[in-house]
Amino acid sequence: MTSFLLTNIGSLVTNDPTHGGLLGELHDAALVIDGANVAWVGSRRDAPAADGALDLGGRAVIPGFVDSHSHLVFAGDRSEEFAARMTGTPYSAGGIRTTVAATREATDEQLTANVSRLVTEMRRQGTTTVEIKSGYGLTVADEARDLEIAGQFTDETTYLGAHVVPSEYADDPAGYVELVTGPMLDAAAKHSKWIDVFVERGAFDADQGRTILRAGIARGLQPRVHANQLGEGPGVQLACEVGAASADHCTYLTDADVDALASAGVVAGLLPAIEFSTRSPYPNARRLLDAGVTVALATDCNPGSGYSSSMPFCIALAVREMHMTPAEALWSATAGGAASLRRPHRGHLTPGSRADLAVLDAPSHLHLSYRPAVPLITQTFIAGRPV
Ligand code: NIG
Ligand code: FE
Repeated sequence: MTSFLLTNIGSLVTNDPTHGGLLGELHDAALVIDGANVAWVGSRRDAPAADGALDLGGRAVIPGFVDSHSHLVFAGDRSEEFAARMTGTPYSAGGIRTTVAATREATDEQLTANVSRLVTEMRRQGTTTVEIKSGYGLTVADEARDLEIAGQFTDETTYLGAHVVPSEYADDPAGYVELVTGPMLDAAAKHSKWIDVFVERGAFDADQGRTILRAGIARGLQPRVHANQLGEGPGVQLACEVGAASADHCTYLTDADVDALASAGVVAGLLPAIEFSTRSPYPNARRLLDAGVTVALATDCNPGSGYSSSMPFCIALAVREMHMTPAEALWSATAGGAASLRRPHRGHLTPGSRADLAVLDAPSHLHLSYRPAVPLITQTFIAGRPV
């Protein structure tokens, strides 16, 4: 195994509270990578010898971003829908069917190239783990194809056959739930770690969601839920009932929802680029944090409700609009995402963690929200290798 020393790190965020504070930040630090993992972190003066070394000239190093929610397998463009929203047309789940039609038409090569382009875009912005959902196929063959493509880029694949009821089942939603929990699940299960359902008016109700999630769980998939995006509703409570890893969106929450997330230990996935792109109110992260809920920040990158691949943009929005401190926002974009994906060795830079990290052309992580929209990430490492 080859070891590699990153030295002269002005500020190193470890997310290990034994080093102090939420972020376990070390100054004038160094880090040793051995193979795919972090072997050592500490003060530059105490750094052990390694096979190779890189002097970072006082730059900051942070754990790579863990983007726990995205929909990258799609074709087509809905920029006109975005423009209409900016002049007052509300977002509706019905737009998903536009992308379903375009995605079904696309070749495997076109879909794969699009995912590749977006994953590259994400890596350039410091993302080292991304969850990718299906959900724009909605036939047995298309969902299996889209998950197979997602699996070429990540182990965090999510079966979202229950995104909306496709037009051909408009008169038979019960028949579509049977398809999603039967032949479509059979075809999707081997390509998926997770199962997700969009619980919302215009998509699936709580009973349908429960049936779908339980069918997935019975096949060894782990549940996560699109919950409470467009209004208050049963999504968060269903996520807590089935032991989901996360309830994502959480834009409209009752006090009972907040209590349920805290007592069930379900991560709240907040997706501020969606509120930005749909002109919706931002969720109040402070309310969740003060109640003891674990918060993850993710992009939800998709062609409809929000087409940003940028975790730094989400951090800046969370700090400016959602009452998070810069430290809380960075934690939620790294360790919070890792909690949401049940990956304890990601989102941290401590001995034994996977060496996933981003180098900032800045002296501290504060610059992520202090200098919004500036491309500060100069290098991204995944499993110890620059990408
Ligand atoms: O997470 N809410 C459901 N799904 C996506 C939007 C998909 C679309 O509009 O195409 C989301 O926002
Ligand atoms: Fe989503």
